[in-house]
Amino acid sequence: MHEYLIDISGEIPHLGKAEVDSLVENHDGVYNLTWNGTDGTLKTQNNPIEFLIDRAAYLKRIVKILNKIPRDTLIAHLMDKDILSRIAPFSSFSVRTESRINDSSEVRERITRKIGAKIKSVSGAKVCLDYPERKFLVIMDSSEIILGEYYNSRVRPKLRKLKTGMRRYFHPSMMNAFLARSMCNLAGVKKGNIVLDPFCGAGGLLCEIADVGAIPVGIDLSWKLVNGARLNLEEDRIQRYGLVQGDAFSIPIERCDCIVTDPPYGRCSSTRGAHSKHLVRSLIEQAPEIVKPTGKICIGASSKMNVDQIIEDFDISTKYKISIPVHKGLIREIFVFNV
Ligand SMILES: C[S@@+](CC[C@H](N)C(=O)[O-])C[C@H]1O[C@@H](n2cnc3c(N)ncnc32)[C@H](O)[C@@H]1O
Repeated sequence: MHEYLIDISGEIPHLGKAEVDSLVENHDGVYNLTWNGTDGTLKTQNNPIEFLIDRAAYLKRIVKILNKIPRDTLIAHLMDKDILSRIAPFSSFSVRTESRINDSSEVRERITRKIGAKIKSVSGAKVCLDYPERKFLVIMDSSEIILGEYYNSRVRPKLRKLKTGMRRYFHPSMMNAFLARSMCNLAGVKKGNIVLDPFCGAGGLLCEIADVGAIPVGIDLSWKLVNGARLNLEEDRIQRYGLVQGDAFSIPIERCDCIVTDPPYGRCSSTRGAHSKHLVRSLIEQAPEIVKPTGKICIGASSKMNVDQIIEDFDISTKYKISIPVHKGLIREIFVFNV
């Protein structure tokens, strides 16, 4: 059984945790994930690195634990023969040391140097701080010292570049890429799934649905926005997608694997007179006819829309409810449930 540490980014920690919980739950294999604040520990025989660093929007890094020794043991014992034999002679590496109990920078530097020198002398690998092939991390705790190898998120640098204002077609109602990605993860979107956003606007969610390997299908009342979504999907070189100008009160789709969406609210989105709450109610009413039986619905909404109450009226139990304060007057709520 291998052990991994999960580091969630500090922006919206409760969303980051739920996202990782959902990804782990929906991935093949046996995983035991526990949390202590925002620090997760994942025990598994599978390799969770790739699917987490490529998918989770709010995961900073994952650390594979290689060894642990009591704090009063000689630091050299952290690098046993097993670990050293797995470092290729011509590879490059870096070492960094972090402390959970405020060890001084001198102590941390001394340990970094010792471990670095040991790896170098035994394996012949070279130190490289900019783009090392292997990145080692020493974590100093009150009772033990942990050696791990860490893997930074591969998706976060990509999402940072996807600023809505820089898209080929911009609309102020467009969902940002981080939130869109995490909603796909909460809904358990899998490669090859058909995923519907019945309020697709300029396609913030559609682009992320496509980026995780699913097939996005979007509907919007506005022709202008449907065309904007097409431009944004084409900018991302997405070839398989569906786009329809239509009314979500009568969804013209027969079957999809799940729904990920944010109905209109606020001044940025027009509803042509309909009340947002009625749109959500109608969506939940239609869902059993559209979504496959095990498929989930993930809705992002303003707390003023009282989606809680609507879900309760349908006697549906919520898998996740995540509240995100946006500014003084607005709390965004994300709901995930089965119909
Ligand atoms: C919050 S925006 C959607 C943002 C989009 N999901 C994204 O990912 O960028 C809400 C959208 O709902 C659309 N809309 C409003 N009433 C609708 C209806 N009855 N049927 C379909 N779309 C509607 C608006 O035109 C607007 O584009």
